[in-house]
Amino acid sequence: MLKNTVTTKMKMTVFAAMLCISGAFFTQTALAEGDAERGAALGYTCLGCHGIEGYRNAYPSYRVPKLGGQKAAYLVIAIRGYRDGTRSHPTMAAQASSMSDQDIDDVAAYLASMGKDTVASGGSKVAGIEEVATCAACHGQNGISLSPTWPTLAGQHEDYILHALMQYREGARKDPVMMPLAAALSEDDVKLVARYFSQLDGLETTKAE
Ligand code: HEC
Ligand code: HEC
Repeated sequence: MLKNTVTTKMKMTVFAAMLCISGAFFTQTALAEGDAERGAALGYTCLGCHGIEGYRNAYPSYRVPKLGGQKAAYLVIAIRGYRDGTRSHPTMAAQASSMSDQDIDDVAAYLASMGKDTVASGGSKVAGIEEVATCAACHGQNGISLSPTWPTLAGQHEDYILHALMQYREGARKDPVMMPLAAALSEDDVKLVARYFSQLDGLETTKAE
């Protein structure tokens, strides 16, 4: 169980990370002042994958992440990551390659605005499992993240959460905060937290209107 694997070292990592992130907070949020209306036109092609319920990445097979209601500043960081090579996924890199910083801000504003009200109002709560306490410090007990630069996990596809955690563990996705946290989880913990966050009410598939 995660409870037993939350070591002092892990707590120190979280604490240190929260300190540096809160320092970077104000400069980071300034990134995401996008124009959602312009973003809607740019974001239309994205719905070809992200707008289809249960659409899968071919290999390895996992569902394409839900983006509706995700934090705008996090979306900006993620899309820039594919464009600039800190995240590797050939299709997403191709999608992002021709986007300017302004395009990215606008698309992010559009996608973030597609969530339902539960996201703004704090979402649902599933009968608490204490095991997610370490994660909840940033991602929220109800899976709605506490900072615009941290992703909301509530309602995300279970297999995408599993995939993301495996990528941090294997170093395929490099993030100084998440790599040590994911590495400290046992296989069982990974499954447990993925199920927990996926069951919460939050993110949505961004369907075209
Ligand atoms: C051909 C299908 C496809 C298209 C089109 C597509 N995406 Fe994606 N997108 C994916 C897949 C698959 C992933 C997961 C990639 C990974 O494993 O890192 C992803 C991941 C993402 C993520 C990361 C989400 C997270 O929670 O980490 C963002 C943000 C994103 N896409 C935005 C976009 C935007 C914006 C567009 C349009 C400009 C777009 N995508 C077009 C398939 C697609
Ligand atoms: C100190 C704050 C913090 C803590 C604690 C934390 N995370 Fe994260 N998490 C982040 C940040 C920041 C990112 C975005 C990293 C990136 O850009 O790849 C992230 C990303 C993720 C993602 C990828 C989401 C996506 O849409 O691609 C998952 C899954 C995740 N965290 C799960 C967890 C779990 C499970 C725990 C508990 C073991 C946890 N996190 C603890 C800050 C945190």
